[in-house]
Amino acid sequence: MADHKVHIFDTTLRDGEQVPGCKLNSSEKLELALQLESLGVDIIEAGFPISSPGDFESVSQIAKSIKNTTVCALSRAVEKDIEAAAQALKYAVRPRIHTGIGTSDLHIKAKFNSTRDEILARAIQCVKWARNYTDDVEFYAEDAGRTDNDYLARVIEAVIKAGATVVNIPDTTGYCLPHQYGEKIAYLVNNVPNIDKAIISCHCHNDLGLATANSIAGVIAGARQIECTINGLGERAGNTSLEEVVMIMKQHKHLGLYTNIVAEQLNPVSRLVSETMRMPVQPNKAIVGSNAFSHSSGIHQDGFLKDAQTYEIIAPEEVGADSSRIVLTARSGRSALAYRFQKLGFQFDRNDVDALYAEFLRVADSKKEVEDTDLTDMAQRHQVAVD
Ligand code: KIV
Ligand code: ZN
Repeated sequence: MADHKVHIFDTTLRDGEQVPGCKLNSSEKLELALQLESLGVDIIEAGFPISSPGDFESVSQIAKSIKNTTVCALSRAVEKDIEAAAQALKYAVRPRIHTGIGTSDLHIKAKFNSTRDEILARAIQCVKWARNYTDDVEFYAEDAGRTDNDYLARVIEAVIKAGATVVNIPDTTGYCLPHQYGEKIAYLVNNVPNIDKAIISCHCHNDLGLATANSIAGVIAGARQIECTINGLGERAGNTSLEEVVMIMKQHKHLGLYTNIVAEQLNPVSRLVSETMRMPVQPNKAIVGSNAFSHSSGIHQDGFLKDAQTYEIIAPEEVGADSSRIVLTARSGRSALAYRFQKLGFQFDRNDVDALYAEFLRVADSKKEVEDTDLTDMAQRHQVAVD
């Protein structure tokens, strides 16, 4: 199978920053953009310039400072939005304008009080406006997840003809099931005659916890760009998590898909984003959660200590995480206890560990995690008793 590159379009600074409490100032946005560039993302969506003077300034500063990565600015299908995006991107080495409009019948009626034909015309028009400023124009069909496939194909064909080089198929409300989203992408691959002139992009939200699965279904069906955020931040339940899709493609090599992401930077960048945006990462978050490489049950600890691969499909150093942790709790077994005593410098045989295990369980039942200081106390008391 031929290898196919999947472009990583990071929208932490735009969709991610829309999260209440995550607002960043220009210097914080710039610092994160520089880190995203060294992480290896292909496109940074830096903001929505028409939305506020502060965001215009942030996009402008990022556009001036980023040299190797495409810098993208969002706009609605409105001429003054597109002009603002173009102005903010004026000094970018690789500028991209991201413009578009809602295409589901619900959006057409409820948001625009319009018709399919009028929306089609507006879609073509906004791409033409954007093409006056840059050759790199991405069109989004908002709520594509709930848009009729036949109409979506007509819109996508028309915007590519008007000059769109990337076509974004957002599951804006996180509604689709993975097979439905994959079929939608496959439908466009098979029914849009000029689809080879553009890259199809997946932009999935996590309202049903399916953003990652849907994005992967999309690239399996032929999309070659994923829009995602660090730590899965984003509107409501969030966007597709960058670290998850990158590691899925790395783990499942048979898919023939790869990215340019430097995986060793995933945890450092995740921590930086979490601190800068003041948004903690849930401990059980895949790849970057504090428990992602912790083992606490006796059965798992025993297997892990014999061969780490029994319970870890990724080595922590591969994604820049701290080394794996054996956490001692009331669910831990003797192997983990013996291992930890050894680490602390105590040489105990099996009988010693058996004797200490009962005391260990008493302590473990009274607290969430048994600390090294508890174990040292236990070990020293035991040594005095047997001397
Ligand atoms: O979720 C969405 O549809 C969006 C678009 C603006 C791309 O964020
Ligand atoms: Zn979105």
